[in-house]
Amino acid sequence: MPFELACAASDVPGDEPLAVTIGRYDVAIARHEDEFFAIQDLCSHAAVALSEGEVEDCTVECWLHGSRFDLRTGKPTGLPATEPVATFPIEVREDGVYVDTTTTLNGVTPT
Ligand code: FES
Repeated sequence: MPFELACAASDVPGDEPLAVTIGRYDVAIARHEDEFFAIQDLCSHAAVALSEGEVEDCTVECWLHGSRFDLRTGKPTGLPATEPVATFPIEVREDGVYVDTTTTLNGVTPT
């Protein structure tokens, strides 16, 4: 079954992502208002966990050099990162938040 339980919806704060490991990947689960997103927990610029950054306006910021990544598309909204980060399908069910890391929403191959 590709969707795996990642966390409880109430575990995800509004201002920073929650780091989880699903399958082979580290994933940052983030929330924008009532919407949930799953993005690979790795900046495309260098080996920095995006879960350590802040969430704002449906983006997550990489704390090292300040690029922000759109949670919907995985694309950086500013330099120095230029490559998108993989985004994973996510479903909020009654018993928690589920993520499928066997495929990506934006066609980016997770590293
Ligand atoms: S390591 Fe993330 S922007 Fe440089």
